[in-house]
Amino acid sequence: MSIKLYKTMTNHHHKNQHLHSKRAKVFSIVNQKGGVGKTTTAINLATAFAAIKRKVLLVDIDPQGNASTGFGIAQSQRQKTIYEVLISECHIKDAIIPTRIPNLKIITSTVDLSACEIEISDVEKREYLLRRAFKEIIHDFDFILIDCPPSLGMLTINALTASDSILIPMQCEFFSLEGLSHLLTTLDLVKENLNHHLKISGIILTMHDRRNKLTEQVEIDVRDFLKDKVFKHSIPRNVKLSEAPSHGLPGIVYDSKCHGSAAYIKLAKEILYKESLK
Ligand SMILES: Nc1ncnc2c1ncn2[C@@H]1O[C@H](COP(=O)(O)OP(=O)(O)OP(=O)(O)O)[C@@H](O)[C@H]1O
Ligand SMILES: [Mg+2]
Repeated sequence: MSIKLYKTMTNHHHKNQHLHSKRAKVFSIVNQKGGVGKTTTAINLATAFAAIKRKVLLVDIDPQGNASTGFGIAQSQRQKTIYEVLISECHIKDAIIPTRIPNLKIITSTVDLSACEIEISDVEKREYLLRRAFKEIIHDFDFILIDCPPSLGMLTINALTASDSILIPMQCEFFSLEGLSHLLTTLDLVKENLNHHLKISGIILTMHDRRNKLTEQVEIDVRDFLKDKVFKHSIPRNVKLSEAPSHGLPGIVYDSKCHGSAAYIKLAKEILYKESLK
């Protein structure tokens, strides 16, 4: 962990000691659209929270396993994954492994997880499998972050049912708003039927390019439509953030000074601030 990153985050930490609660706050990072920055956001926010000495668990619930790969965790190290937890073949505590970041642990996934939705299709209360598993560890962490797959299938439903708050990464493109309204409808349904406590923490504008006129217009529309549900700090398109996973490191550790990292650190602070207002 770079000293600068640690200092930036620690300054904030001292002001907000009261944020610590016994029960972990669970965030899902969700958008059914692919490639919008969910995994990049999950990895970097989890690392930023861990940098201020919060105990963090990142749960990779995407069969692509990108969050696991992003921490340099080889397939051979993924013996007990979220798949075994969901089909009750393993206790959740046995699926938690350390990352190379202090205070940050992970439950990995592999492509095996893609069979899960079919395998659990007959299980009673299949929407609650993850929530039930979390009960065993909810007091062991300050934050649990779930990196969702690009779909609204049973895996994502399990994540939403197990969550307190939703973070929605979104790219400012032509079709983004359409996808977003579909997602918001699904979130309403989950809230009504499965998890009354579910809240939208906010929408994160990702891969942002201020020089692009279309980006600018979509951003104006999104902020106009969703007001303070959109985080003030957006994430710029930044090549260092996309290089980092191939080194098995979060962007904010790979290059803590680049624009992308600075943006994720600011966003992490904004999220903590917003959550403490409740
Ligand atoms: N701010 C950024 N600047 C540049 N590249 C980025 C940025 N954020 C993400 N990327 C890159 O864009 C691609 C998609 O990002 P990411 O994997 O985080 O999206 P995702 O929503 O998790 O995708 P999927 O839906 O497939 O799970 C990756 O190659 C990633 O490295
Ligand atoms: Mg992903």
